[in-house]
Amino acid sequence: MAKNKSVYVCTECGGAAPKWQGQCPQCAAWNTLVETIATPKAGRFESIAGARSAITSLGSVTASESMRIATGIDELDRVLGGGLVGGGVILLGGDPGIGKSTLLLQAAAVLGKARRTLYVTGEESVEQIALRAQRLGLLQAPIELLAEVQLEAIVAAIDSAKPQIIVIDSIQTVYTESLQSAPGSVAQVRECAAQLTRLAKQRGVVVIFVGHVTKEGAIAGPRVLEHIVDTVLYFEGDPHSTFRLVRAIKNRFGAANELGVFAMTERGLKGVANPSALFLSHHAEAVAGSAIVATLEGSRPLLVEIQALTDPVQGGVPRRLAVGLDPQRLALLLAVLHRHGGVETALFDVFINAVGGVRIQEPAGDLAILLAVHSSLKNKPLPAKSLVFGEVGLAGEIRPVQRGQDRIKEAAKLGFATVVIPTANKPRQRIEGVHMITVDRVSDAIAAVRE
Ligand code: TYD
Ligand code: MG
Repeated sequence: MAKNKSVYVCTECGGAAPKWQGQCPQCAAWNTLVETIATPKAGRFESIAGARSAITSLGSVTASESMRIATGIDELDRVLGGGLVGGGVILLGGDPGIGKSTLLLQAAAVLGKARRTLYVTGEESVEQIALRAQRLGLLQAPIELLAEVQLEAIVAAIDSAKPQIIVIDSIQTVYTESLQSAPGSVAQVRECAAQLTRLAKQRGVVVIFVGHVTKEGAIAGPRVLEHIVDTVLYFEGDPHSTFRLVRAIKNRFGAANELGVFAMTERGLKGVANPSALFLSHHAEAVAGSAIVATLEGSRPLLVEIQALTDPVQGGVPRRLAVGLDPQRLALLLAVLHRHGGVETALFDVFINAVGGVRIQEPAGDLAILLAVHSSLKNKPLPAKSLVFGEVGLAGEIRPVQRGQDRIKEAAKLGFATVVIPTANKPRQRIEGVHMITVDRVSDAIAAVRE
């Protein structure tokens, strides 16, 4: 096959160089040259949404929810915003071994019943896929397999088989002959993903990419694809625990930040419909350094235990470590605790952890982090069966969070007796069995738990 000539184009200034070099010859930036096809094939720069288009009025375009294709896995449909959409391109990212191939094989087995589904594997042989299918009890599922990594061959197979749903496991293994860069490089991943995205839009088929999140610079992570695709889903969770979360980071067809919750069992991933109490560890009695927060990641409240440990510094700089929470946020909260709560942590190492491998991104966790750290410092537990939420501001104020009432109701359902919440989140009607402590300032919150 004739190779297209490629050039190296600077991502900063757009300048070109005939071969790779560390520094851009034009703007002198380092490490910005990426291989690009020099002599584009006809149509390579066609509109990504379809070939030539005429102007249409918005009102004349018909769009309906019935275009949704359910995957048959409720938790997956929830993160997708109701199901797949024809022409939609999805990226499913996550650490190796977290369950991406398992989830997609399970989804393909259901989808294959109504629509032709092609599973392209570049990482495993068809025999390995069959072994997994056997484990999942899906050996008879109507899925078509293709073990191939060359883009041109994959496109040819799609042309002849005409599947409506295509899974590419994984995009990092696919390469095109047109570029000389190694498979998995930024140039290859970006070019292959762009070509397959164009194919999806033009033919109205669904393409799902699997992408590994890698820490090495040499291998392109799925980050470079986020703006090309319609939907970005990330698998998260502690690989040593059973639970897995699938989070929508971006979704052109539904709400972003929706969460799907799964349990990895002997026979594949099973959806967890009622996940609110999953991430609580059950202490026989209240312990110091633990606070429970109701987060709203997605549409359902999730109760998560935040643990803090403070320990006198053993010489040197005090350490701050956050697992599942933002370390920058921790530094900020410790400063607020000092300035507005009068509690100093400069002589302590501070470690915080969101139990169960959950990642908490919303600021509603602020007050819980703060009180957990305070509780560990004073070695005094928070009131038994208590729940805390609220955003903390730099001026020491406690700000309300959205849908406070839903969070309190969920906690009440699970038997929580005390809630520490921002004053503005106090529901108008009292909630049976729940004692509410409302706080406006960090100092109020500290005083409230001191009694
Ligand atoms: P896999 O889907 O291969 O992960 P990825 O594609 O993200 O790399 O999942 C691998 C892990 O899941 C592996 O450690 C085995 C485990 N697993 C189960 O526990 N139960 C099952 O039914 C299956 C198929 C896998
Ligand atoms: Mg895999």
